[in-house]
Amino acid sequence: MKAVILVGGEGTRLRPLTCNLPKAIVPVLNRPFLEHLLRYLQQHGITDVVLAMGYQPAAIQRCMGDGARLGVRLTYSVEDSPLGTAGAVKLAAARLDDTFLVLNGDVLTQIDLTAMIKRHREAKPKLSIALTPVDNPTAFGVVETDDSGMVQRFVEKPPPEKVTTNMINAGIYIMEPDVLEMIPTATRFMFERDVFPPLLANGAPVLAYPSQAYWIDIGTPQKYLQAHDDLLRERGTAIITEGKTEIHPAARLTGTVLIGAGCQIAPGARITGPAVLGAGCKVSKDTVIEGSVLWDSVTIDDKSFIRRSIIGAGSRIAGSRLQGCVVGDNITIRKDLPPGSRAWPDGKIESGIPLK
Ligand code: GTP
Repeated sequence: MKAVILVGGEGTRLRPLTCNLPKAIVPVLNRPFLEHLLRYLQQHGITDVVLAMGYQPAAIQRCMGDGARLGVRLTYSVEDSPLGTAGAVKLAAARLDDTFLVLNGDVLTQIDLTAMIKRHREAKPKLSIALTPVDNPTAFGVVETDDSGMVQRFVEKPPPEKVTTNMINAGIYIMEPDVLEMIPTATRFMFERDVFPPLLANGAPVLAYPSQAYWIDIGTPQKYLQAHDDLLRERGTAIITEGKTEIHPAARLTGTVLIGAGCQIAPGARITGPAVLGAGCKVSKDTVIEGSVLWDSVTIDDKSFIRRSIIGAGSRIAGSRLQGCVVGDNITIRKDLPPGSRAWPDGKIESGIPLK
């Protein structure tokens, strides 16, 4: 079965991290996020993948190549202007002549695709949608089902009093090719709004695949950090180095810490996991890093304090205090930032937005 991964969005909620890098290839555990997603597909026997791109496509193509390194065959479909989730798949329609899979490009999950495909083949609906439970469904697309597992209704972002289920659209679909006939060409069109509800209204069978398996979308700074916490927890308590690193014996590393190749960590530095340092980071003495993710080539000068923050590649924290902050790439922070600040590549500081 072929898969289309939707990677064309601008990733606005992850800005400033996505100003110069598409969300699909932000590093997660020091690997481009798509690598995790492609390995997951490969584990379920899906090796023929179309990437539906719009925002900064060349960066994705440069990073992922033809996919051979990951045991998959990648092809690319590029939109001139954003066509929305459904418009993007329509653009790739010529390559989709059989039942196919569609995935949002920001989902990290262990939903059992093999079982979902099996159920789709047995029940033969027009569309299967994976569902995942969330604590608060009011910000999501809620999907109501009947006792036999067929979808009854889509409710977009229901107010609290109208919530009837906590099962939401997990951004993973199996479709029959004739669903594509409902999508106009070269038109901005969304599955969630413009395709699925009319499909249901026309009486087409739509099957739900509810799953309790791990699922998170990495689309906000908080979720991005949470995904790291979860992935590192799987590794157990350990200091994991990815190449030659210099960790001074008087540095204190606790919890699970992933350290990229070529890092230098000075005496008196304290790093408390879950934490990730990209390749080539320099951490000076008497610094504290807690529960944070540093991309490649980040420099942390003496007496910096970094808690629950994300620091973009090539940036430098010059003795400052950061908590719940997101720092773009290639910038220097010389003063303490208010908690929840975002530092943009052009030097602008937006202060006090709690991570969400
Ligand atoms: P935000 O701006 O933060 O909402 O991020 P986003 O638009 O990148 O992601 P969102 O969660 O809204 O979209 C879900 C998935 O669909 C993501 O993987 C996006 O890359 C993808 N996507 C959204 N719009 C488009 C589009 O117009 N074209 C393509 N190819 N993919 C899209």
